[in-house]
Amino acid sequence: MADIDHLREKFLKDIKAARDLAYLNEVKVAALGKKGAVSAELSKLGQMNSDERKEAGQLINSIKQELISALSERQIVLARQALQEKLNTEKIDVSLPSRPSVQAKMHPISRTMEEISAIFSDMGFVIAEGPEIETDENNFTALNIPPEHPARQEHDTFYLQPDEYGERPVLRTHTSPVQIRTMRSTSPPIRIIVPGRTYRSDHDATHSPMFHQCEGLVIGPNIHMGHLKATLIDFCRTFFGLDELPVRFRPSYFPFTEPSAEVDIGCNRDGGGLKIGAGEDWLEILGSGMVNPRVLENCGYDPATTQGFAFGMGVERLAMLKYGIPDLRTFYDTDLRWLHHYGFMPHDVVGLHTGLV
Ligand code: PHE
Repeated sequence: MADIDHLREKFLKDIKAARDLAYLNEVKVAALGKKGAVSAELSKLGQMNSDERKEAGQLINSIKQELISALSERQIVLARQALQEKLNTEKIDVSLPSRPSVQAKMHPISRTMEEISAIFSDMGFVIAEGPEIETDENNFTALNIPPEHPARQEHDTFYLQPDEYGERPVLRTHTSPVQIRTMRSTSPPIRIIVPGRTYRSDHDATHSPMFHQCEGLVIGPNIHMGHLKATLIDFCRTFFGLDELPVRFRPSYFPFTEPSAEVDIGCNRDGGGLKIGAGEDWLEILGSGMVNPRVLENCGYDPATTQGFAFGMGVERLAMLKYGIPDLRTFYDTDLRWLHHYGFMPHDVVGLHTGLV
């Protein structure tokens, strides 16, 4: 019995001395665990006679209960202490000033493509895309520009390594190959616009080897030049936000359209600056035309029953004219001060500038 009293004293002392929960748990295991001291005492009961066993059993059990309640009391105290310590050390000072954040701006090219897309979406066009690495067939031949055609020289093409059949892929020189892809993979009616990157081996103050275009294609029965004119006049006036903007269609030539027209908008150069709107001068802003019957045939359409029109515009040029950006090269300088000046807040509603909302 002296033994067990001694154990009781020892464990109560240990419990009191425990400074953290891990240590308290060790004490608990040593006292009450399967191989702990109390279990060891209980196992000795078998060797006693019944009177001794009764007395010793009661004593051990009362000590066991005493240890259980001492452990749980101490556990509550230590858990509370641990929480308090955590709260003290992980305190957040909400009064600290925040780190300075840089307001991101949207690049004028992205913005202009969104505006163009918004205007044509309103007219029922959907956006189509194609790869920037194209086949010669899609970029030229199917568009009625066969290998020896002089128009090929006007496209300063980046050619890639020939494939196993000797075909040289190209970096697309315009977005027009997406006309071919769309006509060959879907059937009329078609009403798409194709904003995207294009490449020409040309680099000076007004040309960049990578630039952006937005193509348009409408295919259906009885589509005629009147549809082309109305669509593009509407686009120009909405894009520049000028209801009375003069728009002129000037005869031109593209192998993939017949007839072809370049579209000019009115402008005024009085006093040195350039002002879009009514005036003496004209500015060319896009190419267009009725889809050449040969192109329709190349895509498996019957030109007798199916017609269409197409157009293509340079996104940089439109952005420069609309937002008064004087130098093409600055678009690609990745100069944050420039972007801060000419960029757009991402949450600006596109329609506000174009009169759509
Ligand atoms: N693909 C022509 C270019 O890059 C533009 C264009 C597209 C002209 C569609 C007519 C029709 O210059």
